[in-house]
Amino acid sequence: MTDITLAPIQPDQPSHLMATYGRQAISFVRGRGAYLYTEDGTEYLDALTGIAVCGLGHAHPVIAEAIAEQAATLVHTSNLFEIPWQTAAAQKLAEVSGMEEIFFSNSGAESNEGAIKIARKFGTQQGVRLPKIIVAEQSFHGRTLATLSATGNKKVQDGFAPLTNDFIRVPFGDVDAIQEAALQHPDIVAILIEPIQGEGGINTAPQGFSYLEEVRNICNQHNWLMMLDEIQTGNGRTGKYFAYQHTNIVPDVLTTAKGLGNGFPVGAVMTQGKAVGLLGPGSHGSTYGGTVLGSRVVYTVIDTIQKENAVENAALVGRYIVDQLRTQLADKNVQVRGFGMMIGIQLPKDCAELVAIARDQHKLIINVTAGSVVRLLPPINMTQAQADDLLERLVALINNYL
Ligand SMILES: Cc1ncc(COP(=O)(O)O)c(C=O)c1O
Repeated sequence: MTDITLAPIQPDQPSHLMATYGRQAISFVRGRGAYLYTEDGTEYLDALTGIAVCGLGHAHPVIAEAIAEQAATLVHTSNLFEIPWQTAAAQKLAEVSGMEEIFFSNSGAESNEGAIKIARKFGTQQGVRLPKIIVAEQSFHGRTLATLSATGNKKVQDGFAPLTNDFIRVPFGDVDAIQEAALQHPDIVAILIEPIQGEGGINTAPQGFSYLEEVRNICNQHNWLMMLDEIQTGNGRTGKYFAYQHTNIVPDVLTTAKGLGNGFPVGAVMTQGKAVGLLGPGSHGSTYGGTVLGSRVVYTVIDTIQKENAVENAALVGRYIVDQLRTQLADKNVQVRGFGMMIGIQLPKDCAELVAIARDQHKLIINVTAGSVVRLLPPINMTQAQADDLLERLVALINNYL
């Protein structure tokens, strides 16, 4: 054990960190399952899980043991060598996703960069000189230059011109707008969308998941790649291993990250069908993508999700939370939406201050997105008793607020 003790951060303490985040003045020193603890032992119920990351909860013993054992054995060798844990992790991910080929990366944005490169390669091989990708309004795909260009939020793009000109934007759920774009732009080669928009406010398309089927048909009709960003919705979050599994379709390209490592930084871009083989030797790479340690974490996370039936749990307990919220907040002017453990409560007014009220008065960690949506992303293996604990704190919070 280390003998270094860090002093608590004082308000107004000068910092060398770039001020890219508006941080809350609290830090947690320990976590266990659905709960976080500050230095003085105060317990907080975590309905955010590091923004949809720690799906199996904090300090999961099986994952902690795998990390510790592998860290003490071998962390990294590089992709210049065979990595049996990487092969095994890819096998597991192929099993749960139905995809054929997998490239491991370190984050969501980096996985989407891989998808964008695949789309460009696909187009180029067909003689399209400057391939274009359709993306949706209110989408979020990351903060790198290509993914912030794909993102449908002006605040994310502000000050970072020139954006890449790969993208054509359409309203989320509007298939006529896609067909219209197809008529105007012969250079379109792919569509990239989130099955449920997370940062955008927990939005499914107005027609629900059948939008994905409609998009699949359009992609088939025009020979485009259907690319799904399941960085937030993947790994059991919505009550299926991947959200597209609520339908009968399979995308050509699929990206994920967040819950894939339960807090360890990993991501993946996956292909099947006509997208297979587009990235060949020398065309893509990442020093840290699929390290021995990272791959063992991925393998262990998927294995644990399977053994704990955590996806089925997310569907059941998530349904219970949504039903209870609808009943208990029936007299309030709120709309509850979501699937599994990805739940949004649309309030009738902006509610950013609810984050601090929830934390300080109810010892509850939540997030507010799109101005007026309380976003809940609890662990996917949350128990019914923990869900009741969450409901008690949350209903009191919203009742007091509205
Ligand atoms: C749908 C979606 N795509 C991409 C990203 C970017 O992932 P990362 O922050 O790991 O780069 C996020 C992160 O919130 C996301 O929710």
